[in-house]
Amino acid sequence: MAPSHSTSGLRPDRFDRDGRDQLIDVRDLRAALPGIRRLRHWAHQALAVRPGESAVDIGSGSGSEVLTFADAVGADGTAVGVEPDPDLLAAAERRAHQAGSAARFLPGDAYNLPLSNDSFDVALCERVFQHLTAPQRAVGEIARVLRPGGRVVVMDSDWGTAIVHPGDRHVVRQVIETLISGTTDPFAGRRLPGLLTQAGLVIDDVGSHALVQEHSVGAGALVARVSAMAVARGSITEQQREQLLADLEAGARTGDIHLSVTIFAVLAHKPE
Ligand SMILES: C[S@@+](CC[C@H](N)C(=O)[O-])C[C@H]1O[C@@H](n2cnc3c(N)ncnc32)[C@H](O)[C@@H]1O
Repeated sequence: MAPSHSTSGLRPDRFDRDGRDQLIDVRDLRAALPGIRRLRHWAHQALAVRPGESAVDIGSGSGSEVLTFADAVGADGTAVGVEPDPDLLAAAERRAHQAGSAARFLPGDAYNLPLSNDSFDVALCERVFQHLTAPQRAVGEIARVLRPGGRVVVMDSDWGTAIVHPGDRHVVRQVIETLISGTTDPFAGRRLPGLLTQAGLVIDDVGSHALVQEHSVGAGALVARVSAMAVARGSITEQQREQLLADLEAGARTGDIHLSVTIFAVLAHKPE
């Protein structure tokens, strides 16, 4: 589960809601892409899209998974991405055009899917729920647009599982707390089975994957930025931040470093 997007406009002293949501965005963890690819592979296997079916990716971002759906459904099927961000939507359309894909993209959001009732065989929603203030509405929309028997995979990170090693435990805890306080739902991953069940869907499987950042990336841009935010809000001192970054860089040199967050994926279906 994961593409790439610049957050360079973020500054620790401008820790507004949009910026924080972007910051939490796992797209920042570029080195975690192999882990995301493995979980996506699991998702596509679990969904087992067949030729002629209709599939939608909700919050489709750069559109990569819609292109995968388009290949799977073939000429007789339908592959659609729904995305509220016009820039991402345009990028996805360009990507589909360049690839000669039949993937289609619609502006819209998870709360009001621009799709008819009981119209889709398959739905995917990856790393969107952490941004949602009303996740119950979004699962209600998924349940609405799925055909009876339709399958869905929803996956999201759970920042309660974040590990930053090495580093002083108090400082690390404050940095993770800063990260957690900066996203709409940092614990989206653990809530997915309950949300889907409450929407009347039946859980078929739950998987997970820890996204572990490459050693070579060292402390990485995300820790550097979030620790600066922790300083800005008075949770740690600048000296503690510098020590943490130094510890991580030293760990990266010796291979004693671990930066990760776990993503949970839930497969469910709509009862016949
Ligand atoms: C981390 S990205 C994931 C993109 C894509 N699902 C992927 O895995 O590559 C989060 C996506 O959620 C989208 N998003 C945020 N709020 C949304 C909402 N209310 N409804 C639908 N998508 C939303 C963003 O525009 C962005 O494309």
